[in-house]
Amino acid sequence: MKSMRVIEQGNKVFMNNYAQFPLVLHSGKGSTVFDVDGKSYVDMVAGIAVNILGYDNQELNTALMKTIERGLFHCSNLYWNEQAVEAAGRIASLGEMDRVFFCNSGTEAIEAAIKLVRKAGSAKDPKKTDIITMEHSFHGRTYGSMTATGQTKYQKGFAPILPGFSYAPFNDIEKVTSLVTERTCAIIVEPVQGEGGIVPADKAFLKGLRTLCDTHDMLLVYDEVQCGLGRTGYPFAWQAYQVKPDVIAMAKALGSGIPMGAIAAHGTAALVFEPGDHAATFGGNLLSATAANVVLSKLADKRFLQHVHTGAAQLHKRLMQLKERFSFITDVRGVALMMGIELSIPVKPIISECMEHGLLVAPSGTNVIRFVPPLVITCEEIDRAIDILSDVLSSITYL
Ligand SMILES: Cc1ncc(COP(=O)(O)O)c(C=O)c1O
Repeated sequence: MKSMRVIEQGNKVFMNNYAQFPLVLHSGKGSTVFDVDGKSYVDMVAGIAVNILGYDNQELNTALMKTIERGLFHCSNLYWNEQAVEAAGRIASLGEMDRVFFCNSGTEAIEAAIKLVRKAGSAKDPKKTDIITMEHSFHGRTYGSMTATGQTKYQKGFAPILPGFSYAPFNDIEKVTSLVTERTCAIIVEPVQGEGGIVPADKAFLKGLRTLCDTHDMLLVYDEVQCGLGRTGYPFAWQAYQVKPDVIAMAKALGSGIPMGAIAAHGTAALVFEPGDHAATFGGNLLSATAANVVLSKLADKRFLQHVHTGAAQLHKRLMQLKERFSFITDVRGVALMMGIELSIPVKPIISECMEHGLLVAPSGTNVIRFVPPLVITCEEIDRAIDILSDVLSSITYL
């Protein structure tokens, strides 16, 4: 099998930082991916909430080809390009923000947000540089974002981490309030925790954070890297809650597979950076920005978002049926097409078994199966996915 050859070679030349499933992907169509040996899989992972337009999307392909044919993918930020300016305008308009900074990934977006809030805070008082984040959060793997991440397992072995961070239990406004001092410049929160087990914020919690930030002259940052850009059925997750942050970090879905990250800010937060404060060589390059414009045009289309709500209702219904049937499913939770089921048993063997049967689902921690499919997924594809999962769950004999 071709897969085995690739994996054997990969095991020799890749650093050992991933524990991949034994699957070598090759191509895709709609919400289905194919491995190098031709086997197909219904994809409920979408490259971990990235490939929202699915595979072989003609609009995306055509737009990218047009940019490729012009021969210029990248021009640096010494100069302007039309695609990036258009993408920034679309983000500002869709997110009700004023200004945008482009980078290449989620972790870079969080780094940019950390620098922005520290600069804003220290301009008011040099000591105002502390940041509160949430337990079980995930914000990325570089030093700032790893420190912001409220899970020590990601920091183990990498001390010293950055100073000036503290962590509060998610959805506990009293605990967050108790951590605020005159040194606090910002709160960073995922409206729906992704790596922490697919846990949505309570609306009252986000409202409480908004009030706290307003009262103490702090900035509220939403990490929408995983939950943003249509996944909740709204262009941005804040719109699902109607509680607006000062800064939004985004990435993953922004280029639907072409690397792209950004922060957007409004009000005074949008005016913090000055020339020389921050940069990313590849940020806003023509190819990524082209992809982003296709994605953002879809997010401006009410029919596209309606499709997300329809798919979400079907997924939720089917997952609730599974919960009724299998007592080891202890919870079904999430928002729209960012769903998780919590099991009383480890999920990794189940996920491997699903793969054998032609379904890709991802873990979130040890006990949660996560569903973050392409947003173009159809109800029939969702049914196919859940039928496979249901068969796999029925065959579990080690309980
Ligand atoms: C909420 C959140 N923030 C940040 C990141 C980091 O993004 P990236 O892997 O693109 O650096 C992730 C990645 O999973 C994420 O889910």
